[in-house]
Amino acid sequence: MRKRSVRNLDLHGKRVLLRLDLNVPLDEGRVADDTRIAAAIPTVRYLLDNGAAVICCSHLGRPEGRRDPAFDLTPAAVRLARLLEQGVQMAPDCVGDITTEMAAALNPGDVMVLQNLRFHPEEESNDPAFAAQLASLADCYVNDAFGAAHRAHASTHAVAQLLPAAAGLLLEREIEALSPIAEGKAGKLAVITGGAKVSDKLGLLDSLLEKTSVLCIGGAMANTFLHACGEAMAASLLEPDMTEQALEIIHHAADRKCRLLLPVDAVIAAGADQPPRARPLVYADEDVPEDWQVLDVGPQTVEAFGKAVAECDTIVWNGPLGLFEREAFSGGTQAMADALAPLDADTIICGGETAAALGRYRLARRMTHISTGGGAALEFLQGIELPGIAALPDA
Ligand code: 3PG
Repeated sequence: MRKRSVRNLDLHGKRVLLRLDLNVPLDEGRVADDTRIAAAIPTVRYLLDNGAAVICCSHLGRPEGRRDPAFDLTPAAVRLARLLEQGVQMAPDCVGDITTEMAAALNPGDVMVLQNLRFHPEEESNDPAFAAQLASLADCYVNDAFGAAHRAHASTHAVAQLLPAAAGLLLEREIEALSPIAEGKAGKLAVITGGAKVSDKLGLLDSLLEKTSVLCIGGAMANTFLHACGEAMAASLLEPDMTEQALEIIHHAADRKCRLLLPVDAVIAAGADQPPRARPLVYADEDVPEDWQVLDVGPQTVEAFGKAVAECDTIVWNGPLGLFEREAFSGGTQAMADALAPLDADTIICGGETAAALGRYRLARRMTHISTGGGAALEFLQGIELPGIAALPDA
């Protein structure tokens, strides 16, 4: 699936509407993690180096069609300016007279950021008139918002029909890195999955099982699988109504000759703020004490996961293996990252939390590809056509 590239657009003297995914976590009005902004820099630089003025647009959070200061994009624009090492103008809105005047006054080399697209309900309803207002600001359109490509919104979908359109460098890189997995051409494939909910990952597990040789399940979602297998999980977070689906996945994996690994040991505590204790989970003499929770995988689990995936050509990892935000329960996720770093296999990391964990352990550079997409990456890997990509012309 090759899409027209930004490299094929005539950019000199043009104003480019650049859809980015600046949907980044904020902490007291400051950007808490700038992975997505940093990933957008090569395309912004490419556009500027080729004589364009750049009008960046994005959503932030879910303000439900209303202006809400909690979802103001200014902090992201400030961080963009710092990473670009140049001034960036902030428009008061994404459409309207003032924004139109500001866009018209841009010179080649200038960068402007539009205010949150989702302050207007027409963004999410993919409204053609709203898309036309966005399109009127620019001469061409580049989509680099892989993280939002699973949304058919005005700025990712309708606008692409109204201007000469192309994929940005980040979007191209994401398609290149994830396509072999989606197409079953990634050699022997291992999937490591974690996070809280089985229900969030059912589609992914169902579709990838066909292509996967090794499936390692950690995080709170493993609790549901262990519960389904009859282990006593005490007060651990789990989804009792997903027991049947978990058993189906276990049987499906066996039918497909996919090796499925669940945690054999864990870090448990009486609560996320309580002192941790290591213990075996499977074949344990005693159950997890009543009111205690499994909050991380243990060292034997990571060793087993590490050995199993080391035999594969491609490893996809989505979802932390424990409550990694808390130091006491981040050991499993960190040890898994340490185990992947020296491998020759292609290591593909998906999902904001997993990417943030890799960043925190300073191991992001040791991975083959860190996807900026959460939901978008999961849908792409399932082989679902993403509207933001489909809307772009073929190469
Ligand atoms: C994301 O963070 O996954 C994307 O920016 C999409 O955000 P959304 O789920 O609010 O559409």
